[in-house]
Amino acid sequence: MIRRTFVIAIDGPAASGKSSTAQMVAEKLGYLHIDSGSLYRAATAAMLRRERNESKWTEEGVLDAARPVELREARTSFYPVLEGRAIEEEIRGPDVTHNVSRVAQMARVRTWVNGKVREAAKSSDVVVDGRDMGTVVFPDADLKIFLVADSRERAARRLRQRGTPTSEQMLVDETIRITERDTRDARQTLAAADAVVIDTTGLTQQEQVEQIVSLFETGRDSAACSESQG
Ligand code: CDP
Repeated sequence: MIRRTFVIAIDGPAASGKSSTAQMVAEKLGYLHIDSGSLYRAATAAMLRRERNESKWTEEGVLDAARPVELREARTSFYPVLEGRAIEEEIRGPDVTHNVSRVAQMARVRTWVNGKVREAAKSSDVVVDGRDMGTVVFPDADLKIFLVADSRERAARRLRQRGTPTSEQMLVDETIRITERDTRDARQTLAAADAVVIDTTGLTQQEQVEQIVSLFETGRDSAACSESQG
């Protein structure tokens, strides 16, 4: 099957700035943003609504709970909806964050997420972010980026994102939580061999967005140039 839309895949570990960067890149280019992590989170939220005791969770149960989750298109992005309602706040909560890695280890849940993401990318140019977008889901993406950043810096960003006052102890605790999630997600968090790795530790959001847009435009223009010569 020949894919005719553009795909930019942005992967990286927890709180590396993938989603906000992907959203801004999408807006600059007039593409749509798909956050694959939001689907793992939506499946986890759906399962938590059904059963609070996670030791009773099975792959079958999670898939069944996730069945009513849809990916809906908005002006600049896709967002998950459960039983007809947006669930942004619920999927960002601590219960979902604590349990999502375990749901993400379930092979059939991964197949379900990948199917939904590929479907959304069929009819629009997209910027997708996650862990395995450039390796498993879109191995032929037009540009692959892998974002990395120091774990303490990532923790500080996550706390800033929450917008509540923070202390040194909170920063230490968040750094530990992020490092633990890195370990749980390590298996699927891999840079593709042809990904451009960007260390964002000392970069502003604006700088990393501009870097990605410029890499994409340069690659797209040279591909168009060699096509017209060939
Ligand atoms: O909070 P953060 O930005 O790190 O994560 P996220 O993108 O919201 O993804 C939440 C969780 O979903 C991750 O911790 C992974 O367990 C899982 N995930 C995955 O396994 N593969 C993806 N492509 C995206 C997310």
